[in-house]
Amino acid sequence: MSTTILTERDGAIATITLNRPDKLNALNAEMFAALDQAFVDLSSSTQNANVACAILTGAGDKAFAAGADIAAMQNMSVEQARAFSETGHRVCARIEHAPFPVIGAINGFALGGGCEIALACDFLYASDKAKFGQPEVNLGVMPGFGGSQRLARRVGIGRARELCYTGDTLGASEALRIGLVNGVVPHAELLPKVREVALKIAQKGRLAVAQCKRALYTGADVPLDVANALEVQSFAMLFGTSDRAEGMKAFLEKRKAAFTGT
Ligand code: COA
Repeated sequence: MSTTILTERDGAIATITLNRPDKLNALNAEMFAALDQAFVDLSSSTQNANVACAILTGAGDKAFAAGADIAAMQNMSVEQARAFSETGHRVCARIEHAPFPVIGAINGFALGGGCEIALACDFLYASDKAKFGQPEVNLGVMPGFGGSQRLARRVGIGRARELCYTGDTLGASEALRIGLVNGVVPHAELLPKVREVALKIAQKGRLAVAQCKRALYTGADVPLDVANALEVQSFAMLFGTSDRAEGMKAFLEKRKAAFTGT
């Protein structure tokens, strides 16, 4: 079993760690396979019943992930590069469509493929040491795991164009300013802060959070009337859940809701 991805559980919160710190967690085929499997497992119906929120971070003090593994890509043919890109896309989609929120805890460099994996998370918090960028043009290539598309959707087309064309690296405060991350905290406080946010989410109605995620993602890329119709569907569906009955009853009885995720 690969040790390049670590999964830990603390109650309803799962933490997934990219674990190849001697190579700044650079992403190779083994890591992608293990990361994919970790999300398949956490999203499976048995485990998913218990997972309310996941945190994705990097091992070591320096990097979330410093990109796709350049040594592994050095001799790739066009066909091998296509397959590698498709693998990265599949894993990013798996993260993006996980039936629970995934918060990226960006503990250092998030460059190239590292930035792309981060962009597949629902939202990000960064250490004050974090650095972001799509430096692929420095190597004569371009983002291959959805970066050119998700970056534009997250920070706007103009900023995405500039970052992809120049290969420039952004510090954490600049990433905050352009909306790439939701918050920046001192390095040592990153995981405690992200756990606090994850815990807050874990205390809500789980099906309601999952439907918020579905509506926000699916709605983002379709016309507004179609997106609004999706919201109607999700809103109505939640009225058939025990959590909805409990949440409203608890409010009216002036007590904290005891959600069961059903
Ligand atoms: N692929 C493969 N190996 C990588 C890597 C990557 N993307 N990024 C870092 N590493 C390896 C280095 O080769 C080095 O390995 P070594 O100790 O066996 O020589 C190790 O990780 C540490 O990296 P190093 O470059 O010595 O650290 P640094 O602090 O001097 O620099 C970076 C950090 C992030 C600025 C630098 O590693 C870098 O530019 N990495 C590539 C970023 C990139 O272009 N990513 C997009 C790839 S498509």
